[in-house]
Amino acid sequence: MCNTTTLAPPAPSAEGLSPRQQEFSERLLGMLNDAAASMMISIGHRTGLFTVMQDGRAVTSAELAEKAKLHERYVREWLGAMTTARIVSFDPASGKFTLPADHGAFLGEGAEIANMAGTFQFISILGGVESKIVDCFENGGGVPYEEYERFHECMAEESDVTVVAGLEDHILPMAPGLIAKLEAGIDVADIGCGSGHALIYLGALYPNSRFTGFDLCEEAVVTAIAEAKERGLSNVDFVKQDATLLEGSGLFDAIFTFDAVHDQAQPATVLAHIRRLLKDDGVYLMQDIDAQTPVEANIDHPMGTFVYTISCMHCMTVSLAQGGVGLGAAWGEQLAEAMLKDAGFRSVSVQRLPHDEMNLYFVCRP
Ligand SMILES: C[S@@+](CC[C@H](N)C(=O)[O-])C[C@H]1O[C@@H](n2cnc3c(N)ncnc32)[C@H](O)[C@@H]1O
Repeated sequence: MCNTTTLAPPAPSAEGLSPRQQEFSERLLGMLNDAAASMMISIGHRTGLFTVMQDGRAVTSAELAEKAKLHERYVREWLGAMTTARIVSFDPASGKFTLPADHGAFLGEGAEIANMAGTFQFISILGGVESKIVDCFENGGGVPYEEYERFHECMAEESDVTVVAGLEDHILPMAPGLIAKLEAGIDVADIGCGSGHALIYLGALYPNSRFTGFDLCEEAVVTAIAEAKERGLSNVDFVKQDATLLEGSGLFDAIFTFDAVHDQAQPATVLAHIRRLLKDDGVYLMQDIDAQTPVEANIDHPMGTFVYTISCMHCMTVSLAQGGVGLGAAWGEQLAEAMLKDAGFRSVSVQRLPHDEMNLYFVCRP
């Protein structure tokens, strides 16, 4: 622990604090606890502890450790954090811990409503580059993609929930006529495809169509190629390609970007390439962060602080690391629409989907 840090804010009952100071110091303490809980939620997700507790049975730390095949001492401390965070309940009489059903609906693999625990992994990923980000505050520049441990793996997990799970029933129907075309056989591209889960899913669903994913990161492309091969998909291809340098025109009937424009080095150039690569009767579907361009319009955003933080510590800095413009995740609906129009899309409709609170969907036609 750094000895120059004053860890403990004034106790809430401290004399001489104005009500607003008291309220703020309590809020800071709450943030400290919640930030700590975030990392423990990430650990609960990665170790499978939430999944094991999802049956709602009361367990001792030893029983839970045995079921999860983990070391008891660590599990006991994790349970302490989960209990004080009021995620898990504890019965002192029996010494047993329970994950209430209402909480289990959001945590663990079999989560009935949505497994939100996976998203907490990003907090730990960002923590891993904090010193490099501090260096950028002082000296400028950016932190490149390769510095983020497990980023593509966690992004693919996130994309399974927000993109893949919603493709057939929610995302594709936003572009009228697209499903019929996919069934008949068309050419589709996914720019900044990451580990390629969206195209792998679509490739299996629409065997008459041809799918190409482009991504800058070798690690993501290698994973995507291996997975497509493992599934025996001959209509899905992945290419390591800087989207800033995409060439050709009128090659695709549909182009997707899922959460992949705002962290581009040159987003305006990429949007112009997408317009050029699209056939005149084609459709471009852009999923990107739901935010407003002016900061004051995001004050009541339910995930506003998370969006600006992930932007500063990832999306913006990876763009700056490539000598890019550093648009940032909170570029917002207004600027996004203006840039899409500048790129040559005359029709842009903005939609929200209930299963994906984090993103906006822009359905764009030339
Ligand atoms: C936030 S991730 C989204 C990945 C994927 N679409 C998904 O939903 O899981 C953004 C992706 O854009 C890629 N990317 C960033 N800059 C790029 C560039 N200049 N050219 C191609 N891909 C790029 C990154 O490697 C990363 O995989």
